[in-house]
Amino acid sequence: MGAPLYQSPKGVHDILPDDHLYFSFIKKVVRHYCRRSGHRRISTPIFENVDVFVRSVGETSDIVEKEMFLFESKSGKKFALKPEGTAGVIRAYLEHGMQQMPKPVSLYYIEPHFRYNRPQKGRYRQFHQFGFEVIGEKDATIDAQVIYLAHKINVDLGIADRLTLQLNTIGSMEDRIKYKEILVDYYIGKERSLCEDCKKRMHANPMRLLDCKEEDCRILASMAPKLEDNISAESKEYFELLKEYLKELNVPYELNPMLVRGLDYYTHTVFEFWSKKEGSQNAIGGGGRYDGLIEQMGGQPTPAIGYAAGIERIMEHMKESGIRPPNKDRVEVFVAQLGHIAKKKALGLINELRECGINTIGAIGKDSMRGQMELANKMDAKYSLILGQIEVQEGTIILRNMEKGSQEVVPYEGIIEKMTEILGSNSLKNKKLWEE
Ligand code: HAM
Repeated sequence: MGAPLYQSPKGVHDILPDDHLYFSFIKKVVRHYCRRSGHRRISTPIFENVDVFVRSVGETSDIVEKEMFLFESKSGKKFALKPEGTAGVIRAYLEHGMQQMPKPVSLYYIEPHFRYNRPQKGRYRQFHQFGFEVIGEKDATIDAQVIYLAHKINVDLGIADRLTLQLNTIGSMEDRIKYKEILVDYYIGKERSLCEDCKKRMHANPMRLLDCKEEDCRILASMAPKLEDNISAESKEYFELLKEYLKELNVPYELNPMLVRGLDYYTHTVFEFWSKKEGSQNAIGGGGRYDGLIEQMGGQPTPAIGYAAGIERIMEHMKESGIRPPNKDRVEVFVAQLGHIAKKKALGLINELRECGINTIGAIGKDSMRGQMELANKMDAKYSLILGQIEVQEGTIILRNMEKGSQEVVPYEGIIEKMTEILGSNSLKNKKLWEE
């Protein structure tokens, strides 16, 4: 067989049914915890006016400089596929008057995002993030709760042991303005040792030089004046409180003075979850406080904090640590039939089983019993219900346990109740979820 005529574009992937087991499980955990902590779901469009991202994420950020998928409408309006979620959520918050809602306004999202970067393991051009934003209040307990929520989701997904929480403060806007000047002074005269990107960013966004991955830039960054020595007493106190609250909540963290994050809107708290194996490469999630962003986007000064994580990266960690999410797709009953009357009866039986929350498949198009049973095996069905002419006449049905290979003839009447009883908790659980 040759290569297929069409393949998905570079860096974007299909989510195949086996991966959807992970995807659905992650979404379920996220929804559960977000709801429990008062977040409501929001979806913003897949594309926005490009200014929404330039204004918020920052002109000199990698995302805006290199990674946006841009396109133009016929009338020349510039749009970008959303590279991250926060900017769109804040645009929606302001556009829909959410400032009037009781504060804090807590929102969460589970959405596809797009970044035009060089595809590699864990780095895709279309990927999925879940994230949450808490808008309208500034208190270190809010920061602690956001971090706790992110941590708790990692724990429930079974990946917390593989990660470390990296924590830092980058101080207030004023602290950063002062610190930037100090940094530029430090780098003046050292330009020759910097990579091309850092040379360009040195004046516009010197803090980005601190988390450059190039060897020479890292050496220079390690000797640069420290942000922690240049932030105000107030900012320090805020950070001290946050650390105290995280201890209270038993959330382990590592202080990382080099962590600045690649998006411009942050102030004070910044954090990322790193893989113990890969370090800063392929962080599974990150976030921070962004007290200046809402004003920058045309609103009243409003503090906020948020977090987002990459679902594909989380899935990879779950797979590597052997976590299998429950297979909610498994075929529980396969209905097989032989003959015209049995076929008609099977049609109704399949629907009744499905309505009782039982995953049911029936190959009523197939006429050979052997073919049907082979299919039931291939589909890994737990049970088969077999109806032939005789069974229909006698008012019975054959119930086959596919795992044990045993079977019995049972009365047709009451078969739905019997199957619900046998499959018991699982099917009922399905039903409850549906009703939730
Ligand atoms: P971010 O650190 O740019 O933050 O992205 C968050 C997560 O999205 C990353 O840690 C990673 O898991 C995933 N991710 C990012 N790019 C890719 C990619 N190309 N392929 C696969 N996964 C990727 C933000 O986006 C901020 N909006 C987070 C935030 C929310 N801050 C405040 N509120």
